[in-house]
Amino acid sequence: MLILIAAQSLDGFIARPDRAGTDFCSEADASFLRDTLKKFDSLIMGRKTFETLRERILNSDTKRYLRKIITRSPAAYAADTRPDLVEFTDQPPIETLSELAGRGRKKTALLGGGEIYTQYLEAGVVDELWITIEPLLFGGGTPLLGKANERPLKLLSHHRLSDETLLLKYKPL
Ligand SMILES: NC(=O)c1ccc[n+]([C@@H]2O[C@H](COP(=O)([O-])OP(=O)(O)OC[C@H]3O[C@@H](n4cnc5c(N)ncnc54)[C@H](OP(=O)(O)O)[C@@H]3O)[C@@H](O)[C@H]2O)c1
Repeated sequence: MLILIAAQSLDGFIARPDRAGTDFCSEADASFLRDTLKKFDSLIMGRKTFETLRERILNSDTKRYLRKIITRSPAAYAADTRPDLVEFTDQPPIETLSELAGRGRKKTALLGGGEIYTQYLEAGVVDELWITIEPLLFGGGTPLLGKANERPLKLLSHHRLSDETLLLKYKPL
């Protein structure tokens, strides 16, 4: 199962212009993410997202996740590679997921960023989207998606993480 997890501004951006997307989420969303990630055994993210979290990831002592970082230059990240914990790959979505499944990793969170969300949605491998909406209007920045994906979505649930922050869960039909 692959779940796309993202936090966005009300106008659809996952980061402000020229800023990392790690600075705007509410404590309610951070707490939701911390708790929910405990249910996953593997994480996928793009190389740019990895760069924004690099110190945290490399200094993390949890052995819970196999993290796959998507880059066109996996060999350049040999020094950051930690087998079974942090691995770099240029494989496309279906191959990455079948490799994870072959290694017994069956609950995967897709953590962005926009380029990676776009490609995995396009590949049709996303089972659900869990989108946190923060009450902010950026007017620009990194969009959730880089291009249209017109596949209809079914709303599975809506939940208030706090007075201001909504969590919406959708399933592609
Ligand atoms: N608010 C949120 O929930 C959230 C979540 C995640 C990220 N973010 C923010 O989003 C921003 C990053 O998003 P982004 O869209 O710019 O970048 P991204 O999706 O994190 O990473 C893009 C990188 O992925 C690699 N890549 C993309 N397509 C590939 C392919 N087909 N094959 C191999 N590698 C491929 C490339 O790495 P190389 O250049 O190394 O080849 C590319 O530069 C950051 O600011 C981050 O903090 C926010």
